[in-house]
Amino acid sequence: MTKDIILEAKSLTKAFGSLVAVDDVSIAIQAKTMHAIIGPNGAGKTTLFNLLSGVLPPTKGEVFYKGENITSLPPYKRAHLGIGRSYQITNIFPNLSVIENVRLAAQAKGKDNFKLFRKVDDFHEYVNKAYEVIGIVDLAGRANDFARDLTHGEKRKLELGIMLACDPELLLFDEPTAGMSSDQVPELISIINQIVQQRERTAILVEHRMDVVMSISDVVTVMNQGRILAEGAPSDIANNQQVQTAYLGDLYGELA
Ligand SMILES: Nc1ncnc2c1ncn2[C@@H]1O[C@H](COP(=O)(O)OP(=O)(O)OP(=O)(O)O)[C@@H](O)[C@H]1O
Ligand SMILES: [Mg+2]
Repeated sequence: MTKDIILEAKSLTKAFGSLVAVDDVSIAIQAKTMHAIIGPNGAGKTTLFNLLSGVLPPTKGEVFYKGENITSLPPYKRAHLGIGRSYQITNIFPNLSVIENVRLAAQAKGKDNFKLFRKVDDFHEYVNKAYEVIGIVDLAGRANDFARDLTHGEKRKLELGIMLACDPELLLFDEPTAGMSSDQVPELISIINQIVQQRERTAILVEHRMDVVMSISDVVTVMNQGRILAEGAPSDIANNQQVQTAYLGDLYGELA
């Protein structure tokens, strides 16, 4: 495992009025790892993601990507640098086909998307990219179907495909399995895992399903009330008495 830090937050704080949703959080994400962030409802996980992806400005603190201070960059500029994020509110165009949804995402990332006369070659490149991506997320058989006709599980795969079309190096997943039935979860998780392992990407994963977190993460950070409560390897976190007492035991029962 490399010691390269791809993303670093220093003393990140976000206050909503008197509520401090993220409270002096410093975190370093090592490149090419799966880094999970867990914690009870309202712990500040999504707010932290909003700060990392640029959706919200921090009240205090800084974010560095590959050593560059990106604290004041808007989300689209962070996306161009290689930070991809899946959103709770979907980016899917329901009345376009699966392949068109992914092609548009690839094109939006293309450097020349504002050119007046786009070359035909470029168009083919985006289409090829889109087919490559829907292969990865196992939607090739649905390429020409309307996105609106996909099952919930397939829509989550399409969201993943839309994120992958932009070739992110760092992927931020906020509860990617939310709303999925248990039998659909392993496939999506396995796809995410493969993307990180085989394509040497980095992922930060917010996930409530403890079995998923413990099985695929390299590092787990536990948040509670806006702060980092603990950080370590999954087995350390599962056996951490402080974490157990704070919430793991209550919420998820026996972990070991
Ligand atoms: N835009 C906002 N305005 C005011 N308060 C907010 C806002 N966004 C989040 N909060 C509050 O900040 C706290 C942290 O919320 P956040 O959504 O980050 O938690 P979370 O860890 O993602 O929770 P969950 O597991 O339920 O998704 C909560 O108390 C929430 O109500
Ligand atoms: Mg959340």
